[in-house]
Amino acid sequence: MCGIIGYIGDKDISSVLMVALERLSYRGYDSSGIAIIADNELSYWKKAGKTQVLNNLLTPLSIQGSLGIGHTRWATHGIPSDINAHPHVNIEKKLAVVHNGIIENFITLKNSLIDKGYLFTSNTDTEVLAHLLSHHYKTSLEQAVLDVIPLIQGAYAFVVISELDPSKIVCARYGSPLIVGISENEAFVASDVNVLLHHTKNVVYLENKEIAVLSKDNISYLNFSGKTISKDSQKVSFNSLDSSKGGYDHFMLKEIYEQPLIVQNILDKYLKGSDIVFKDIDFIEQQITHIRRFIIQACGTSWHAGLIAKYFIEKYASILTEVDTSSEFRYKNMLASQQDILMAISQSGETADTLACLREAKSKFLKVLSFVNVKNSAMDIESDSVIYSHSGQEIGVASTKNYTAQITTLLLFSIHVARIKGTMDETVFSDMIVSLRKLPNYLQLLLNQHASITDVARKYFKYKNFIFIGRGVNYPSALEGSLKLKEISYIHSTAYPAGELKHGPIALIDENMPVVALCPDTDTYSKMANNLQEVKARSAKTIVICTEGNRELEPYADDIIYIPKVPQYLTPFLISVPLQLLAYEIANMLGCDVDKPRNLAKSVTVE
Ligand code: M6R
Repeated sequence: MCGIIGYIGDKDISSVLMVALERLSYRGYDSSGIAIIADNELSYWKKAGKTQVLNNLLTPLSIQGSLGIGHTRWATHGIPSDINAHPHVNIEKKLAVVHNGIIENFITLKNSLIDKGYLFTSNTDTEVLAHLLSHHYKTSLEQAVLDVIPLIQGAYAFVVISELDPSKIVCARYGSPLIVGISENEAFVASDVNVLLHHTKNVVYLENKEIAVLSKDNISYLNFSGKTISKDSQKVSFNSLDSSKGGYDHFMLKEIYEQPLIVQNILDKYLKGSDIVFKDIDFIEQQITHIRRFIIQACGTSWHAGLIAKYFIEKYASILTEVDTSSEFRYKNMLASQQDILMAISQSGETADTLACLREAKSKFLKVLSFVNVKNSAMDIESDSVIYSHSGQEIGVASTKNYTAQITTLLLFSIHVARIKGTMDETVFSDMIVSLRKLPNYLQLLLNQHASITDVARKYFKYKNFIFIGRGVNYPSALEGSLKLKEISYIHSTAYPAGELKHGPIALIDENMPVVALCPDTDTYSKMANNLQEVKARSAKTIVICTEGNRELEPYADDIIYIPKVPQYLTPFLISVPLQLLAYEIANMLGCDVDKPRNLAKSVTVE
């Protein structure tokens, strides 16, 4: 979603800001803009569309400046347009602000500002901030920020500069991330640490209700009460995101191909000899017999990973596990006891709904274990314990490698819990570890089928609708395959547990409806085989994914993709690769922007 950058120092200001905006663009955006102060004078430029449109505007201008701010916007209030793009300025155009999050009471604030004679030019919630900060400016920019903060409600991060206080950048965090980057005679602020890392690894993570005041040679920190606070910087140990596609046409494809290596890394990290070792989950290990329930919270692909985790945990550890999409769960009555453990699953660690559920659980004194990829994200910081997915930076908006990483860590966690609880026989455990060690090779075998999956995609890319069906542990695989297809190709697709077809969806089946049927060797194979025959009998075009050596489904399959013969618990891992490649190739053939699909953001940081 929206991205923020601020810079004060001697480097070329427009180049620092534009490179940062380009690096932020993977988050999803529809417009961008910058504001700078040069010779005590504020200037700003903003454009709807790709950052290239803004760059084209700026290139001939040879912009100089001592400090500046920039923003990539993902529209929430007001359509994507030049006017609604950030920065937003006050009436005299002497103060500019960029903002992530939502000012929830902006309508009330706007009406009261209009009554005071302020004119609004945009439809955004952010513009109230520009006018409020201007209205409250008396002595210094940070004092204006302190005076405005009690008036605004919502979750936000904002950064402001002004001609009236021209040698500083002031920023405030409440709910949305902000990180200060420190280097000699220069300072940065950004909403995403990756943007800072090719300038400096010396960073300070602002916490909620904190303000930073950046000048060229000094950075000070305040809390929302105006009290000066000291904050230690930390050295980031990882490198700047690898923003190259490494020879692939898209980040998504590169990330699909990284999966064998990522699974190998996860196994190397968490398998120690014949043991699974997770740091800092003592509160689970010591209380294992008292745990009443796991409550899994997640959205999108992470929710699908959560549905698979439910299957694993209930099957192996016999612990009741509930899974809900966080946008639904957060408005339910959370009937939880302290014997319940909340598990938040998130690639970004910043998804607003999942984070809200995590906080709700903490407010009820539940312990929280999160499965997160991005270190130092809000969920990483706020959870009692975290199991990292170690999938590296995922740039494609469609989650692929992190899904595989999530289900790998979730399977390891499930069998670890089962083992310490005593619900898993040692030989079963050892056999599972042996099979898991073969997983990277199996994934590679699937990737080797890319060319034939492309042939399948070529046959189907013009269809307007798809249905994905699966059962048991592969019903979530069907949901995930369907989500991948619709989010990057804009083809309507839906997923059903195959047994539900007769309760309504089978009415959709005819020769114009491709059905992707997930029929690997599992407990529900024979039921799936029946469901496949039922759709074939109604003239569906069928793409069948089944286990190698299976010949009996051939009469009912227009196209077959084989996966290696593996135990049931590994089938979701293997099925996801051809489904990812199928979606990728179809979207590509349709000319879609695979890495940055329309309307989508990489991290959904607003509700
Ligand atoms: O960062 P998170 O895992 O919390 O994100 C959750 C969803 O927004 C995300 O999985 C989304 O559904 C992806 N676009 C799926 O490819």
